[in-house]
Amino acid sequence: MPFLQNLRFSELSALSDDQLSQLADLHRQCFEDAWSAKSIRDMISGQGAFGQAAFLESDLAGFSIFLPCVDQCELVTICTSPERRSSGLGRKLVDAGLSLAAKTGFTDCLLEVASDNAPARHLYESAGFTEDGTRKAYYLRKNGPPMDAVLMSKPTK
Ligand SMILES: CC(C)(COP(=O)(O)OP(=O)(O)OC[C@H]1O[C@@H](n2cnc3c(N)ncnc32)[C@H](O)[C@@H]1OP(=O)(O)O)[C@@H](O)C(=O)NCCC(=O)NCCS
Repeated sequence: MPFLQNLRFSELSALSDDQLSQLADLHRQCFEDAWSAKSIRDMISGQGAFGQAAFLESDLAGFSIFLPCVDQCELVTICTSPERRSSGLGRKLVDAGLSLAAKTGFTDCLLEVASDNAPARHLYESAGFTEDGTRKAYYLRKNGPPMDAVLMSKPTK
């Protein structure tokens, strides 16, 4: 697919301040609890954080952040640009993270997803994640009742 072929992937540690601002802008578009560029910088500067950002020329198309958790890792966020969705980028970011996690020695990857987030649940199921349980009323919403979190995991190999 031409869109995917034209993307340039950067490790999170290589991102400039301008690129980090783009990550924060996209995160703000995607989530109610927006993360600042500084909070993203602090998160990815922590020991063992990994993930990728995908650019089409200089424009951010999507990114993922994984954090270590003893011998497992957690996919703490993933988002793709609204105009670039359903093009396979989300899956590419998940698969790249799982591959790096396996090479690093993490046994499993964990994540939480809002129960009403159909695109994300579809992405994770299609990538091989299975449901481990739920956390009731975990996500607080500005407009509407709290939403359950679905806990999912997948062995990295
Ligand atoms: C979830 C998200 C990252 C998916 O990114 P994407 O680039 O559209 O993902 P892909 O194109 O790789 O699609 C992956 C799978 O999800 C499916 N999918 C994509 N959009 C979908 C939708 N709106 N409804 C149902 N399935 C959908 C695709 O068909 C594909 O399925 P397949 O592998 O069986 O073909 C994107 O929707 C997003 O950024 N959402 C906002 C942020 C968010 O909710 N992040 C997850 C937090 S837990």
